[in-house]
Amino acid sequence: GESGALTGRRVLVTAGGTREPLDPVRYLGNRSSGKQGVALARAARAAGADVTLIGANLQVEPPTDVDLITVETSEELRDAVLSATATADVVIMAAAVADFRPRSLAAHKIKKSEDGTDPVIELTRTPDILAEISTHRARPGQVIVGFAAETGDATHTPLEFARAKLARKGCDALVLNEVTAGAVFGQDSTAVQVVTRDGEVAEATGSKDDVAVFLVDTVAGIAASTVIG
Ligand code: C5P
Repeated sequence: GESGALTGRRVLVTAGGTREPLDPVRYLGNRSSGKQGVALARAARAAGADVTLIGANLQVEPPTDVDLITVETSEELRDAVLSATATADVVIMAAAVADFRPRSLAAHKIKKSEDGTDPVIELTRTPDILAEISTHRARPGQVIVGFAAETGDATHTPLEFARAKLARKGCDALVLNEVTAGAVFGQDSTAVQVVTRDGEVAEATGSKDDVAVFLVDTVAGIAASTVIG
């Protein structure tokens, strides 16, 4: 067939949002639909890559011509990522992974108390998968891309936060979604800035499909210029 920018490359994409169980019927989740990650998997496939998609609670239909691994929790996502990175040339971590989970999973449904006291949910940090796979690369020359939804504050712009996060996580590129102006979650269009380790910033606005094509192009460029070994 045709040869694309990622022909012969193996691309791993995570998409959706994790759910962290609280008791047998409840979880803590987030509003990620998986649209952007699924669009990335489709764009990587269209660019000729062999694609593995790890989907966490996807609310959109995944492509049929990718290997789909379905997960629910951040722990399941971590296990799936750690095993799939062994063979991936490119890893795109588009999933919204919970930063915290309930410290314990109640064996029974949490009941309303007799005396009207409110239950307290204790949270604990989840392992940072992106930082883990970036600092312990499964393969030399593997290109790792993270996502970040940032708002600015009185002294820092979203871009400054994104640069700091890129350095802290140790990945090769970070895709910044500015959430200051409103929700990105579940919508069809988006605006992103891609920050790379050389300090360059590239911007794209449009449908999540258009932005996915742009991001796959950008990643293919990084992969092509990465010296393996
Ligand atoms: O730190 P923050 O949650 O903003 O980072 C977002 C990026 O890190 C996303 O690429 C997400 O997939 C990844 N992440 C992760 N493990 C976590 C939390 C986030 O890999 N526990």
